[in-house]
Amino acid sequence: MDVLKGKRIALGVSGGIAAYKAAELLRLMQRSGAEVSVIMTAGAKQFVTPLTFEALSGNPVYHEIFEEGAGRMEHIASASKADLLMVAPLTANTLAKMAQGLADDPVSITYSAFSGPVLVAPAMNDQMWAHSAVRDNIRTLKARGVTVVPPESGELACGAIGPGRLAELDTILDAVKSRLAQSIDYKGKRVLVTAGPTREPIDPVRFISNHSSGKMGYAIADKARLRGAEVTLISGPTALAPPAGVRLLSCERVAEMRDLVLKNITDCDVLVMTAAVGDFAPREIEKEKIKKRGEATLTLEMTQTPDILKEVSTLEEKPFVVGFAAESENILQSALEKQERKKLDMIVANDISAPGIGFQSDDNQVTLISGPDEQETWPRMLKVEIADRLLDRILPSLKAPLGMVPGRERPL
Ligand SMILES: Cc1cc2nc3c(=O)[nH]c(=O)nc-3n(C[C@H](O)[C@H](O)[C@H](O)COP(=O)(O)O)c2cc1C
Repeated sequence: MDVLKGKRIALGVSGGIAAYKAAELLRLMQRSGAEVSVIMTAGAKQFVTPLTFEALSGNPVYHEIFEEGAGRMEHIASASKADLLMVAPLTANTLAKMAQGLADDPVSITYSAFSGPVLVAPAMNDQMWAHSAVRDNIRTLKARGVTVVPPESGELACGAIGPGRLAELDTILDAVKSRLAQSIDYKGKRVLVTAGPTREPIDPVRFISNHSSGKMGYAIADKARLRGAEVTLISGPTALAPPAGVRLLSCERVAEMRDLVLKNITDCDVLVMTAAVGDFAPREIEKEKIKKRGEATLTLEMTQTPDILKEVSTLEEKPFVVGFAAESENILQSALEKQERKKLDMIVANDISAPGIGFQSDDNQVTLISGPDEQETWPRMLKVEIADRLLDRILPSLKAPLGMVPGRERPL
């Protein structure tokens, strides 16, 4: 069955020379059974009229923000209910607006109000495509989980030859289909993710923590939700906005995180532990702020915090468990030992000593370990891309016949 059948697609068109190709794209999606509604920038209207898209789609076209009439909010509402928002062609200008969060035309407004899967197909002059501002904006969108169908090389409308042509329509259609297929492959699955650092108080104003930004766990939570899962995110303190549609449970101390994990683990299918859980905490929390009293040093006595993964490993009934190992030496060996010791189904190892990746960064370079002979080292990529790839690798283990995961007794 065609994945596009019965799907609602919001097709944003911005003002590039390839705008006319959006009409054919619309027809292709309709032929596959999709219901398409079109959104246009003022620039797009310089190339194709709204009437063309209205006639082809059979739906009103949202092309004017300040249009009179009661219907205009409905256009926004119906676009926001779409199964997928795509922008094809995407101009450098609309790309910049999307990256920056500007909302001053129908396409950028819809994007800023949309929480479902987004796909863009940029098309522009080869010099524009190569410009560092455009590269940065593309990266920003990718880091947010937007699927980018890159332009192809060839003769451009301006006469130049190089990358910039809108991708072939069949290529865009295939990308739409796989994005939609992906958007339901976790339907019915419950995913529990831990993220961020933990924070152990020393006194009322100080704490011990680590550099974890939470980006990896938030990316997994967001991607799992976009793929149809019911997601609970247990997060230590981060500066990140909670992903839309995800149940967020906030905590600070390891003991709090442990309690939340154990409370929520019983009815989940997958547990992904990305949180950088502190190993030690001060034995005593001072009631008053510790003051300088003339001593040159301060000694804090630390005790081990609860080992969440170890506790999870001893549970009789447990979900598919994925751990993360942030190591600075003997990366793979340490990760493998941790996987065996904590009985993890998978472990993702990364080298936190490598510059430019890991903590705080949008990128990472990891090795996925499922067993002593099952290791995959992935190239450096965005954390959102790692999230998707990891979810791809986990999924087959959740799709066992008769609802059983191989090697596990509990029916899913
Ligand atoms: C003939 C012509 C063709 C253009 N083609 C493109 C294009 O392919 N890609 C692009 O990014 N901008 C292109 N532009 C520039 C955009 O139209 C311009 O940046 C405009 O502000 C885009 O507005 P919008 O993004 O709101 O639609 C073209 C301009 C003209 C006059």
